[in-house]
Amino acid sequence: MDKLLITGGARLAGEVRASGAKNAALPILCAAILCPETLALSNVPALQDVRTTLRLLEQMGVQVTRNGDQVEACAANLNTHIAPYELVKTMRASILVLGPLLARYGEAQVSLPGGCAIGARPVNLHLMGLEAMGAEIKVESGFIHAKASRLRGAHIMFDTVTVTGTENLMMAAALADGQTVLENAAREPEVVDLARCLMAMGARIRGAGTTTIVIDGVERLHAAQHTVLPDRIETGTFLVAAAMTRGQVRVTHTDPNLLDAVLVKLQQAGAQIRTGEDFIELDMLGQRAKSVNVHTMPHPGFPTDMQAQLMALDCVAEGTGVVTETIFENRFQHALELQRMGAQIKLEGHTAIVTGCECLTGAPVMATDLRASAALVAAGLAAEGQTTVERIYHLDRGYERIEAKFAQLGARIERVAG
Ligand code: UD1
Repeated sequence: MDKLLITGGARLAGEVRASGAKNAALPILCAAILCPETLALSNVPALQDVRTTLRLLEQMGVQVTRNGDQVEACAANLNTHIAPYELVKTMRASILVLGPLLARYGEAQVSLPGGCAIGARPVNLHLMGLEAMGAEIKVESGFIHAKASRLRGAHIMFDTVTVTGTENLMMAAALADGQTVLENAAREPEVVDLARCLMAMGARIRGAGTTTIVIDGVERLHAAQHTVLPDRIETGTFLVAAAMTRGQVRVTHTDPNLLDAVLVKLQQAGAQIRTGEDFIELDMLGQRAKSVNVHTMPHPGFPTDMQAQLMALDCVAEGTGVVTETIFENRFQHALELQRMGAQIKLEGHTAIVTGCECLTGAPVMATDLRASAALVAAGLAAEGQTTVERIYHLDRGYERIEAKFAQLGARIERVAG
């Protein structure tokens, strides 16, 4: 298995381009199932999760062509409505085919995603919503079996804010009979991007980006083109790594409006931030960061997908920062690896109290999930000496050419075959 070998200590400097957002690309690719004509996408990131989604679509009979960051998907002839365990187990977001399959074909069999390193991650709210829209759902032998002759509009209230739950039901509702209202809906920018793409395909959706989304079902959707929005988590990861190394970077092809909560924290940490329409510049003026407190919340709050990276920042900052995780029950595994690099972190349930030290020391560490891996890479870049990050298949799921992009910023980082 490949590893990343990092020699820490280089101050990151220069310019790097953000890729398209993984968490927007995945639901948008699944939306292709809703339509018998071609969905043409650009700014699709080259990631393992995107490849897994394309394989999932192809094994269902969707015709896929890919050229760089452009993907065309045409679901004119679907030959199966099954999402097999082999693919779902490697990527929980495969659950996003459930709503589209059911809406267009009246039937879906999707392997139930299992537990996950960061928490139980049930899909009960996805199923509850589809049942409210008239679907018959059984869970048997590890599969969700769902049937409905035609879904009908419903008034659905989510108990918990769920991103993929909101997306699944929005896609299902696009072809349902009548009006669907989603209350306590997720407001993440990726939900809004999916809504934009669906609207380009002819869906009638209002309120995406607010807590109430209203969808008036239509008989069919049509061909469309869409550009995937920039990845705010990838952007934030570069900024945090630069802050940890007291550097100065410019991230281009991004959107500063997507990162309000993260930029506020970086400013509190002492970074000078300058933004333009599609770029963000961060300059630490060569200074050590100051500790910040972080409390994860659904959007527009601080994103849980940036929690690990901010914890890494606190590890090398001046002072003590309190990091509270409210979205997932087990999302502190990076803390244990950071401790191996000399970080002073005290865990108390959902809270981590981090006392910064002048310098971490390089060590062999193990990635446990996608964003934890990013935090370990950033820590390795800021540490003294060598760090090897193992199990980087997690990183490859969600970061495009991460070592090449960091190397472009002056990091000493290489991928070695394990
Ligand atoms: C998405 C993102 C992930 C991000 C997360 C939270 C994608 C592909 N993934 O994951 O990167 O970390 O949002 O911003 O977009 N829950 C239930 N029942 C459900 C669904 C969720 O109890 O049916 C709970 C979860 O266990 C969790 C919380 O709701 O505690 C939020 O999870 P959710 O927003 O659904 O996360 P994902 O959509 O899986």
